[in-house]
Amino acid sequence: MDIDFSAWLGLALRWFHLMAGIMWIGTSFYFIWLQNALKPPQSKEDKKAGVAGEAWLVHGGGFYHNKKYAVAPEHMPEDLHWFKWEAYFTWISGMLLLGLVYYYGASLYLIDRTKNNLDPSEAVLIGLAFIIGGWFFYDGLCKTSVGKNNGLFGLIWFAALTAAAYALNQFFSGRGAFIHVGAIIGTVMAANVFAIIIPNQKKVVASLLAGEKPDPYLGKKAGQRSLHNNYMTLPVLLIMISNHYPMLFGNPHNWLILAGLSVAAWLIRHFFNLDEMGIKNYWYAAAGVAGFVLVMLLVSGGGKPPASATGQVSPAEVRQIVRTHCSACHSDTPTYEGITEAPTGVMFDTMEEIKKYAPRIIVRAVQDGTMPLGNTTNMTDEERKKLGVGLRELSPSP
Ligand code: HEC
Repeated sequence: MDIDFSAWLGLALRWFHLMAGIMWIGTSFYFIWLQNALKPPQSKEDKKAGVAGEAWLVHGGGFYHNKKYAVAPEHMPEDLHWFKWEAYFTWISGMLLLGLVYYYGASLYLIDRTKNNLDPSEAVLIGLAFIIGGWFFYDGLCKTSVGKNNGLFGLIWFAALTAAAYALNQFFSGRGAFIHVGAIIGTVMAANVFAIIIPNQKKVVASLLAGEKPDPYLGKKAGQRSLHNNYMTLPVLLIMISNHYPMLFGNPHNWLILAGLSVAAWLIRHFFNLDEMGIKNYWYAAAGVAGFVLVMLLVSGGGKPPASATGQVSPAEVRQIVRTHCSACHSDTPTYEGITEAPTGVMFDTMEEIKKYAPRIIVRAVQDGTMPLGNTTNMTDEERKKLGVGLRELSPSP
Protein backbone atom coordinates (compact mmCIF):
# COMPACT_ATOMS: atom_id res chain seq x y z
CA MET A 1 0.00 0.00 0.00
CA ASP A 2 1.25 3.43 -0.92
CA ILE A 3 -0.40 6.05 1.29
CA ASP A 4 0.31 9.72 0.61
CA PHE A 5 0.15 10.70 4.27
CA SER A 6 0.69 14.41 3.83
CA ALA A 7 -2.19 14.61 1.32
CA TRP A 8 -4.58 12.73 3.65
CA LEU A 9 -3.48 14.72 6.66
CA GLY A 10 -3.98 17.90 4.65
CA LEU A 11 -7.46 16.81 3.66
CA ALA A 12 -8.44 15.97 7.26
CA LEU A 13 -7.04 19.24 8.58
CA ARG A 14 -8.64 21.37 5.88
CA TRP A 15 -12.01 19.73 6.39
CA PHE A 16 -11.78 20.19 10.13
CA HIS A 17 -10.57 23.78 9.79
CA LEU A 18 -13.50 24.63 7.55
CA MET A 19 -16.00 23.07 9.94
CA ALA A 20 -14.54 24.76 13.05
CA GLY A 21 -14.38 28.06 11.16
CA ILE A 22 -18.02 27.82 10.12
CA MET A 23 -19.03 27.18 13.74
CA TRP A 24 -16.94 30.08 15.00
CA ILE A 25 -18.04 32.57 12.38
CA GLY A 26 -21.60 31.30 12.60
CA THR A 27 -21.87 31.89 16.34
CA SER A 28 -19.97 35.16 16.19
CA PHE A 29 -22.18 36.55 13.40
CA TYR A 30 -25.22 35.29 15.27
CA PHE A 31 -24.27 37.11 18.47
CA ILE A 32 -23.44 40.34 16.65
CA TRP A 33 -26.80 40.05 14.90
CA LEU A 34 -28.53 39.42 18.23
CA GLN A 35 -26.79 42.39 19.84
CA ASN A 36 -27.89 44.60 16.94
CA ALA A 37 -31.45 43.29 17.00
CA LEU A 38 -32.09 43.82 20.73
CA LYS A 39 -34.99 46.08 21.72
CA PRO A 40 -35.60 47.56 25.20
CA PRO A 41 -37.37 45.02 27.47
CA GLN A 42 -41.16 45.11 27.67
CA SER A 43 -41.82 43.83 31.19
CA LYS A 44 -41.17 45.74 34.41
CA GLU A 45 -39.61 42.71 36.08
CA ASP A 46 -37.03 42.44 33.32
CA LYS A 47 -36.17 46.12 33.60
CA LYS A 48 -35.76 45.73 37.32
CA ALA A 49 -33.59 42.66 36.94
CA GLY A 50 -31.14 44.59 34.75
CA VAL A 51 -32.19 43.33 31.32
CA ALA A 52 -30.86 45.82 28.77
CA GLY A 53 -32.47 44.34 25.69
CA GLU A 54 -34.53 41.46 24.39
CA ALA A 55 -35.39 39.83 21.09
CA TRP A 56 -37.86 37.23 19.91
CA LEU A 57 -36.62 34.68 17.39
CA VAL A 58 -38.22 31.82 15.54
CA HIS A 59 -36.16 28.95 14.18
CA GLY A 60 -36.47 25.24 13.56
CA GLY A 61 -40.01 24.91 14.85
CA GLY A 62 -39.75 26.89 18.08
CA PHE A 63 -39.74 30.39 19.53
CA TYR A 64 -36.77 31.76 21.45
CA HIS A 65 -36.89 34.68 23.83
CA ASN A 66 -33.39 36.09 24.31
CA LYS A 67 -32.54 38.66 26.96
CA LYS A 68 -29.26 40.49 27.40
CA TYR A 69 -28.19 41.69 30.83
CA ALA A 70 -26.35 45.01 30.80
CA VAL A 71 -23.40 43.78 32.83
CA ALA A 72 -24.46 40.47 34.37
CA PRO A 73 -27.51 38.88 35.95
CA GLU A 74 -27.83 39.20 39.70
CA HIS A 75 -27.11 35.53 40.29
CA MET A 76 -24.92 33.10 38.48
CA PRO A 77 -27.08 30.83 36.32
CA GLU A 78 -26.63 27.13 37.02
CA ASP A 79 -25.80 26.16 33.50
CA LEU A 80 -23.80 28.76 31.59
CA HIS A 81 -22.68 28.10 28.00
CA TRP A 82 -19.37 29.43 26.79
CA PHE A 83 -18.28 29.94 23.19
CA LYS A 84 -14.58 29.54 22.78
CA TRP A 85 -13.61 26.12 21.44
CA GLU A 86 -14.86 27.04 17.96
CA ALA A 87 -12.27 29.81 17.91
CA TYR A 88 -9.45 27.78 19.44
CA PHE A 89 -9.95 24.80 17.14
CA THR A 90 -10.15 27.03 14.07
CA TRP A 91 -6.84 28.59 15.01
CA ILE A 92 -5.11 25.34 15.96
CA SER A 93 -6.18 23.56 12.77
CA GLY A 94 -5.27 26.66 10.75
CA MET A 95 -1.77 26.77 12.20
CA LEU A 96 -1.31 23.04 11.60
CA LEU A 97 -2.40 23.52 7.99
CA LEU A 98 -0.05 26.46 7.61
CA GLY A 99 2.72 24.25 8.96
CA LEU A 100 1.89 21.34 6.67
CA VAL A 101 1.27 23.20 3.42
CA TYR A 102 3.42 26.31 3.64
CA TYR A 103 6.20 25.39 6.09
CA TYR A 104 6.72 21.69 5.40
CA GLY A 105 6.17 22.53 1.72
CA ALA A 106 8.05 25.83 1.97
CA SER A 107 10.16 25.34 -1.14
CA LEU A 108 7.00 24.88 -3.23
CA TYR A 109 4.43 27.20 -1.74
CA LEU A 110 6.18 29.77 0.41
CA ILE A 111 9.44 30.59 -1.30
CA ASP A 112 9.56 32.26 -4.69
CA ARG A 113 13.04 32.05 -6.16
CA THR A 114 12.41 34.96 -8.51
CA LYS A 115 11.91 37.21 -5.50
CA ASN A 116 14.09 35.85 -2.77
CA ASN A 117 16.16 32.73 -2.43
CA LEU A 118 15.37 32.06 1.22
CA ASP A 119 16.22 28.93 3.13
CA PRO A 120 13.05 27.10 4.23
CA SER A 121 13.98 27.65 7.89
CA GLU A 122 14.56 31.38 7.32
CA ALA A 123 11.23 31.63 5.54
CA VAL A 124 9.41 29.90 8.38
CA LEU A 125 11.00 32.20 10.97
CA ILE A 126 10.06 35.30 8.98
CA GLY A 127 6.49 34.02 8.63
CA LEU A 128 6.13 33.30 12.34
CA ALA A 129 7.68 36.66 13.25
CA PHE A 130 5.01 38.44 11.21
CA ILE A 131 2.21 36.44 12.84
CA ILE A 132 3.41 37.00 16.41
CA GLY A 133 4.40 40.61 15.71
CA GLY A 134 0.95 41.21 14.24
CA TRP A 135 -0.77 40.31 17.51
CA PHE A 136 1.53 42.47 19.64
CA PHE A 137 1.07 45.44 17.33
CA TYR A 138 -2.71 45.04 17.27
CA ASP A 139 -3.09 44.45 20.99
CA GLY A 140 -0.73 47.33 21.79
CA LEU A 141 -2.70 49.65 19.52
CA CYS A 142 -5.98 48.62 21.18
CA LYS A 143 -4.55 49.63 24.54
CA THR A 144 -3.47 53.13 23.45
CA SER A 145 -5.91 56.02 23.22
CA VAL A 146 -6.37 55.14 19.52
CA GLY A 147 -8.19 52.00 20.68
CA LYS A 148 -11.04 54.15 21.98
CA ASN A 149 -11.72 55.63 18.56
CA ASN A 150 -13.13 52.84 16.38
CA GLY A 151 -12.76 54.73 13.10
CA LEU A 152 -9.16 55.81 13.62
CA PHE A 153 -8.26 52.42 15.01
CA GLY A 154 -9.72 50.69 11.94
CA LEU A 155 -7.77 52.97 9.62
CA ILE A 156 -4.42 52.39 11.32
CA TRP A 157 -4.91 48.63 11.61
CA PHE A 158 -5.92 48.46 7.95
CA ALA A 159 -2.81 50.45 6.96
CA ALA A 160 -0.63 48.15 9.09
CA LEU A 161 -2.07 45.02 7.49
CA THR A 162 -1.59 46.47 4.01
CA ALA A 163 2.01 47.31 4.87
CA ALA A 164 2.47 43.75 6.15
CA ALA A 165 1.05 42.39 2.88
CA TYR A 166 3.52 44.53 0.96
CA ALA A 167 6.46 43.52 3.14
CA LEU A 168 5.55 39.81 3.10
CA ASN A 169 5.51 39.99 -0.67
CA GLN A 170 9.14 41.00 -0.71
CA PHE A 171 9.98 37.71 1.02
CA PHE A 172 7.41 35.19 -0.15
CA SER A 173 5.45 33.97 -3.14
CA GLY A 174 2.15 35.81 -3.64
CA ARG A 175 0.28 32.87 -2.13
CA GLY A 176 2.67 32.69 0.80
CA ALA A 177 2.27 36.42 1.46
CA PHE A 178 -1.54 36.24 1.29
CA ILE A 179 -1.80 33.28 3.64
CA HIS A 180 0.39 35.07 6.17
CA VAL A 181 -1.83 38.13 6.17
CA GLY A 182 -4.69 35.68 6.76
CA ALA A 183 -2.74 34.03 9.56
CA ILE A 184 -2.05 37.42 11.19
CA ILE A 185 -5.75 38.31 11.12
CA GLY A 186 -6.83 34.82 12.23
CA THR A 187 -4.35 34.86 15.09
CA VAL A 188 -5.52 38.29 16.22
CA MET A 189 -9.12 37.10 16.13
CA ALA A 190 -8.43 33.91 18.08
CA ALA A 191 -6.15 35.72 20.54
CA ASN A 192 -8.92 38.27 21.12
CA VAL A 193 -11.08 35.39 22.29
CA PHE A 194 -8.31 33.71 24.29
CA ALA A 195 -6.58 36.69 25.87
CA ILE A 196 -9.34 39.31 26.24
CA ILE A 197 -12.90 38.15 25.71
CA ILE A 198 -12.87 34.91 27.71
CA PRO A 199 -10.64 36.16 30.59
CA ASN A 200 -12.85 39.26 30.96
CA GLN A 201 -15.95 37.13 31.03
CA LYS A 202 -14.31 34.86 33.60
CA LYS A 203 -13.62 37.87 35.82
CA VAL A 204 -17.27 38.92 35.56
CA VAL A 205 -18.38 35.42 36.52
CA ALA A 206 -15.91 35.37 39.43
CA SER A 207 -17.25 38.62 40.86
CA LEU A 208 -20.79 37.32 40.50
CA LEU A 209 -19.90 34.20 42.43
CA ALA A 210 -18.25 36.34 45.10
CA GLY A 211 -21.45 38.37 45.37
CA GLU A 212 -19.73 41.53 44.10
CA LYS A 213 -20.82 43.89 41.34
CA PRO A 214 -18.81 43.13 38.19
CA ASP A 215 -16.86 45.93 36.50
CA PRO A 216 -18.83 47.04 33.39
CA TYR A 217 -15.54 48.03 31.73
CA LEU A 218 -14.64 44.33 31.34
CA GLY A 219 -17.71 43.60 29.23
CA LYS A 220 -17.18 46.71 27.13
CA LYS A 221 -13.61 45.75 26.29
CA ALA A 222 -14.70 42.24 25.32
CA GLY A 223 -17.49 43.70 23.18
CA GLN A 224 -15.04 45.93 21.33
CA ARG A 225 -12.79 42.97 20.45
CA SER A 226 -15.85 41.06 19.26
CA LEU A 227 -16.72 43.94 16.98
CA HIS A 228 -13.16 44.05 15.61
CA ASN A 229 -13.42 40.32 14.91
CA ASN A 230 -16.68 40.91 13.11
CA TYR A 231 -15.10 43.35 10.66
CA MET A 232 -12.04 41.16 10.11
CA THR A 233 -14.04 38.06 9.16
CA LEU A 234 -14.76 38.78 5.50
CA PRO A 235 -11.15 39.63 4.56
CA VAL A 236 -9.87 36.48 6.26
CA LEU A 237 -12.44 34.37 4.39
CA LEU A 238 -11.34 35.98 1.14
CA ILE A 239 -7.74 35.07 1.89
CA MET A 240 -8.73 31.48 2.68
CA ILE A 241 -10.17 31.02 -0.82
CA SER A 242 -7.68 33.29 -2.62
CA ASN A 243 -5.24 30.47 -3.34
CA HIS A 244 -7.68 29.26 -5.99
CA TYR A 245 -7.30 32.59 -7.79
CA PRO A 246 -3.85 33.24 -9.23
CA MET A 247 -5.30 36.44 -10.75
CA LEU A 248 -5.29 37.79 -7.18
CA PHE A 249 -2.08 36.53 -5.59
CA GLY A 250 -0.10 36.30 -8.84
CA ASN A 251 -0.51 39.98 -9.66
CA PRO A 252 2.56 42.15 -8.93
CA HIS A 253 0.25 44.55 -7.05
CA ASN A 254 -1.43 41.74 -5.13
CA TRP A 255 -1.13 43.63 -1.82
CA LEU A 256 -3.17 46.50 -3.32
CA ILE A 257 -5.75 44.05 -4.65
CA LEU A 258 -6.08 42.58 -1.18
CA ALA A 259 -6.45 46.06 0.32
CA GLY A 260 -9.11 47.00 -2.27
CA LEU A 261 -11.17 43.85 -1.74
CA SER A 262 -10.86 44.23 2.04
CA VAL A 263 -12.29 47.75 1.85
CA ALA A 264 -15.15 46.37 -0.26
CA ALA A 265 -15.70 43.64 2.35
CA TRP A 266 -15.64 46.19 5.17
CA LEU A 267 -18.30 48.30 3.43
CA ILE A 268 -20.54 45.29 2.91
CA ARG A 269 -20.11 44.13 6.50
CA HIS A 270 -20.92 47.65 7.69
CA PHE A 271 -24.06 47.69 5.57
CA PHE A 272 -25.24 44.49 7.25
CA ASN A 273 -24.35 45.69 10.75
CA LEU A 274 -26.40 48.87 10.21
CA ASP A 275 -29.20 46.91 8.60
CA GLU A 276 -29.40 44.64 11.64
CA MET A 277 -29.88 47.74 13.80
CA GLY A 278 -32.75 48.78 11.55
CA ILE A 279 -30.75 51.39 9.62
CA LYS A 280 -31.01 50.95 5.86
CA ASN A 281 -28.11 52.61 4.10
CA TYR A 282 -27.75 51.00 0.70
CA TRP A 283 -24.86 53.30 -0.17
CA TYR A 284 -22.52 51.08 1.83
CA ALA A 285 -23.62 47.95 -0.02
CA ALA A 286 -23.43 49.74 -3.37
CA ALA A 287 -19.96 51.11 -2.57
CA GLY A 288 -18.82 47.62 -1.55
CA VAL A 289 -20.01 46.07 -4.81
CA ALA A 290 -18.52 49.00 -6.77
CA GLY A 291 -15.20 48.44 -4.98
CA PHE A 292 -15.22 44.78 -6.04
CA VAL A 293 -15.98 45.72 -9.66
CA LEU A 294 -13.30 48.42 -9.61
CA VAL A 295 -10.67 45.94 -8.43
CA MET A 296 -11.80 43.54 -11.16
CA LEU A 297 -11.43 46.24 -13.84
CA LEU A 298 -8.05 47.41 -12.56
CA VAL A 299 -6.68 43.87 -12.40
CA SER A 300 -8.00 42.97 -15.84
CA GLY A 301 -6.64 46.11 -17.48
CA GLY A 302 -3.11 45.41 -16.18
CA GLY A 303 -0.10 45.12 -18.47
CA LYS A 304 -0.31 41.80 -20.25
CA PRO A 305 2.68 40.97 -22.42
CA PRO A 306 2.16 41.72 -26.10
CA ALA A 307 1.15 38.60 -28.02
CA SER A 308 3.76 38.56 -30.74
CA ALA A 309 6.73 40.42 -29.41
CA THR A 310 9.50 38.04 -30.34
CA GLY A 311 8.45 36.61 -33.67
CA GLN A 312 8.17 32.90 -34.35
CA VAL A 313 8.43 30.14 -31.79
CA SER A 314 8.15 26.57 -33.05
CA PRO A 315 6.01 23.84 -31.42
CA ALA A 316 9.23 21.96 -30.67
CA GLU A 317 10.49 24.92 -28.65
CA VAL A 318 7.20 25.11 -26.75
CA ARG A 319 7.50 21.43 -25.92
CA GLN A 320 11.08 21.92 -24.80
CA ILE A 321 10.19 24.81 -22.46
CA VAL A 322 7.31 22.85 -20.96
CA ARG A 323 9.51 19.78 -20.52
CA THR A 324 12.18 21.82 -18.76
CA HIS A 325 9.92 23.84 -16.49
CA CYS A 326 6.66 21.98 -15.97
CA SER A 327 7.05 18.26 -16.55
CA ALA A 328 8.73 17.46 -13.25
CA CYS A 329 5.26 17.94 -11.71
CA HIS A 330 2.72 18.00 -14.55
CA SER A 331 3.28 14.52 -15.87
CA ASP A 332 1.84 11.04 -15.75
CA THR A 333 4.96 10.13 -13.80
CA PRO A 334 6.08 13.21 -11.88
CA THR A 335 9.67 13.27 -10.70
CA TYR A 336 9.55 16.27 -8.35
CA GLU A 337 10.05 15.26 -4.74
CA GLY A 338 6.81 15.33 -2.78
CA ILE A 339 4.62 15.42 -5.90
CA THR A 340 3.13 11.94 -6.31
CA GLU A 341 0.63 12.67 -9.06
CA ALA A 342 0.05 15.41 -11.59
CA PRO A 343 -1.28 18.44 -9.62
CA THR A 344 -5.05 18.79 -10.08
CA GLY A 345 -4.73 16.11 -12.79
CA VAL A 346 -3.14 18.58 -15.20
CA MET A 347 -0.39 16.96 -17.34
CA PHE A 348 1.59 18.20 -20.28
CA ASP A 349 3.09 14.94 -21.57
CA THR A 350 1.79 15.17 -25.11
CA MET A 351 1.34 18.00 -27.59
CA GLU A 352 -2.44 17.38 -27.41
CA GLU A 353 -2.42 18.03 -23.68
CA ILE A 354 -0.29 21.14 -24.07
CA LYS A 355 -2.75 22.46 -26.67
CA LYS A 356 -5.73 21.62 -24.49
CA TYR A 357 -4.34 23.52 -21.50
CA ALA A 358 -2.77 26.31 -23.56
CA PRO A 359 -5.07 29.07 -22.18
CA ARG A 360 -4.32 28.04 -18.58
CA ILE A 361 -0.60 27.66 -19.28
CA ILE A 362 -0.61 31.21 -20.66
CA VAL A 363 -2.38 32.50 -17.55
CA ARG A 364 -0.18 30.70 -15.02
CA ALA A 365 3.26 30.81 -16.64
CA VAL A 366 3.11 33.85 -18.96
CA GLN A 367 0.71 36.37 -17.40
CA ASP A 368 0.68 35.71 -13.64
CA GLY A 369 4.00 33.92 -13.36
CA THR A 370 2.58 31.70 -10.58
CA MET A 371 3.90 28.56 -12.34
CA PRO A 372 6.29 26.77 -12.07
CA LEU A 373 5.38 26.69 -8.41
CA GLY A 374 7.88 28.76 -6.43
CA ASN A 375 9.77 29.09 -9.73
CA THR A 376 11.58 25.91 -8.68
CA THR A 377 13.12 25.62 -12.13
CA ASN A 378 14.24 29.26 -12.43
CA MET A 379 12.18 30.01 -15.50
CA THR A 380 13.27 33.31 -17.06
CA ASP A 381 11.08 36.14 -18.37
CA GLU A 382 12.45 35.48 -21.84
CA GLU A 383 11.25 31.85 -21.69
CA ARG A 384 7.84 32.96 -20.45
CA LYS A 385 7.45 35.35 -23.37
CA LYS A 386 8.57 32.70 -25.82
CA LEU A 387 6.13 30.19 -24.36
CA GLY A 388 3.30 32.72 -24.71
CA VAL A 389 4.10 33.45 -28.33
CA GLY A 390 4.54 29.77 -29.20
CA LEU A 391 1.28 28.72 -27.52
CA ARG A 392 -0.71 31.45 -29.23
CA GLU A 393 0.67 30.35 -32.60
CA LEU A 394 -0.15 26.75 -31.70
CA SER A 395 -3.78 27.36 -30.83
CA PRO A 396 -4.92 30.81 -31.86
CA SER A 397 -7.73 31.87 -29.56
CA PRO A 398 -11.15 32.03 -31.26
C1 HEC B 1 7.06 21.99 -8.52
C2 HEC B 1 5.87 21.49 -9.09
C3 HEC B 1 5.22 22.25 -10.24
C4 HEC B 1 5.83 22.71 -11.37
C5 HEC B 1 7.29 22.58 -11.79
C6 HEC B 1 4.78 23.31 -12.15
N1 HEC B 1 3.58 23.21 -11.51
FE1 HEC B 1 1.76 23.80 -12.20
N2 HEC B 1 0.87 23.13 -10.49
C7 HEC B 1 1.54 22.63 -9.40
C8 HEC B 1 0.59 22.47 -8.32
C9 HEC B 1 0.91 21.93 -6.94
C10 HEC B 1 -0.67 22.87 -8.81
C11 HEC B 1 -1.99 22.91 -8.05
C12 HEC B 1 -2.11 24.16 -7.20
C13 HEC B 1 -2.32 25.43 -7.95
O1 HEC B 1 -3.15 25.48 -8.87
O2 HEC B 1 -1.64 26.41 -7.61
C14 HEC B 1 -0.45 23.25 -10.17
C15 HEC B 1 -1.47 23.65 -11.02
C16 HEC B 1 -1.27 24.04 -12.34
C17 HEC B 1 -2.33 24.28 -13.27
C18 HEC B 1 -3.81 23.99 -13.03
C19 HEC B 1 -4.54 25.07 -12.30
C20 HEC B 1 -4.92 26.20 -13.20
O3 HEC B 1 -4.64 27.34 -12.81
O4 HEC B 1 -5.48 25.98 -14.28
C21 HEC B 1 -1.75 24.72 -14.43
C22 HEC B 1 -2.44 25.10 -15.72
C23 HEC B 1 -0.32 24.72 -14.22
N3 HEC B 1 -0.06 24.30 -12.95
C24 HEC B 1 0.62 25.10 -15.16
C25 HEC B 1 1.99 24.94 -15.00
C26 HEC B 1 2.95 25.30 -16.01
C27 HEC B 1 2.63 25.89 -17.36
C28 HEC B 1 4.18 24.96 -15.51
C29 HEC B 1 5.52 25.14 -16.18
C30 HEC B 1 5.82 26.45 -16.70
C31 HEC B 1 3.98 24.39 -14.19
N4 HEC B 1 2.63 24.41 -13.92
C32 HEC B 1 4.99 23.90 -13.39
C33 HEC B 1 2.86 22.32 -9.33
C34 HEC B 1 3.82 22.58 -10.32
